[in-house]
Amino acid sequence: MARRPSLEATYEAPPNIALVKYWGVRDRERALPYNSSISVTLDRLRSRTTVRFDPDLSDDRVELNGAVATGGPRDGVVRFLDRVRARANVSHRAEVRSRNNFPTASGLASSASGFAALAGASTAALGLRLSGRELSRLARFGSGSASRSVFGGFVEWRAGTRADGSDCYARPLYGPNHWPALVDLVLIVKGAPVKEVRSADAMQATVATSPQYRRRLAELPGRIRRIRAAIGSRDSRRLFPLVMEECDSFREVCETTRPSLDYLTSTSRAILGEVRAVNREAGRPVSAYTHDAGAHVHIFTLRRDAASVRRRLARLPGVERTLLLRPGPGGHLVG
Ligand code: DP6
Repeated sequence: MARRPSLEATYEAPPNIALVKYWGVRDRERALPYNSSISVTLDRLRSRTTVRFDPDLSDDRVELNGAVATGGPRDGVVRFLDRVRARANVSHRAEVRSRNNFPTASGLASSASGFAALAGASTAALGLRLSGRELSRLARFGSGSASRSVFGGFVEWRAGTRADGSDCYARPLYGPNHWPALVDLVLIVKGAPVKEVRSADAMQATVATSPQYRRRLAELPGRIRRIRAAIGSRDSRRLFPLVMEECDSFREVCETTRPSLDYLTSTSRAILGEVRAVNREAGRPVSAYTHDAGAHVHIFTLRRDAASVRRRLARLPGVERTLLLRPGPGGHLVG
């Protein structure tokens, strides 16, 4: 009997931290954002996902970090697989096994790495050969930020302006070795609340109710240009204040959303205050804070300042752990 071809593939993808935040969708059907965003892909942290399509399976089976997924997390994966099946014109159900090498419940962005890995593994398993750009276009249907985790280094996800979304995709700006002195110190905060509202829903509440949202959108093209230029010239004195300005703008539209979105704990707020104090005392921007829709805080600094910044922030009450990360490579097939 002829052996069936193996419809299995494994893909590994990293998380990313946004310097310019994606927040607001202009077309939900096509998953098109209002604004472009910029991120740094992080090294060391990975989601590794294996997808095996099998004509003998009667239903999709999804395992996340060793436990069978149910409810919302499973539905998101199945919806994504449906999109890939439609594209490859197959109807086989699949077995998905995904594992993060970092604690998922810690609130570090696992939807970006998870959906980038699912996009890479599921399309390769079905023999679809997608370019990085096409993969990023597909990954955003799982999670917007996943579109950026396909690439390494500094990545821009362009919102585009066309109604059909053909000019909406992520592209690498600078590779992972562009700025070896830049580090991301991640401060894991104790008792970070588990997200109650999915980002995709929370951001639409902001679009509908925050009186500051329009102003933020108007400011973004200029800020994006300046951030891109500061990264290009590896200029931390210009970049760090812009990263904090952008984070403050993101937090402002969250806090003025009705009902208000408050992602920080008192420890997170103390960290922001301490970063401002460190910079003030040094008389220069030694570091920059940023956070996503969660309580943990990422601190950008230069390698030469990392040890002293870390010592100062790690001693704040409520800081559970610190991780020192760097810009890293993008997603790739395994084996
Ligand atoms: C604040 O891409 O995680 O992290 O579609 O709900 O998965 P979902 O949204 P997601 O939203 C990211 C929001 C952000 C900013 C960013 O990463 O750009």
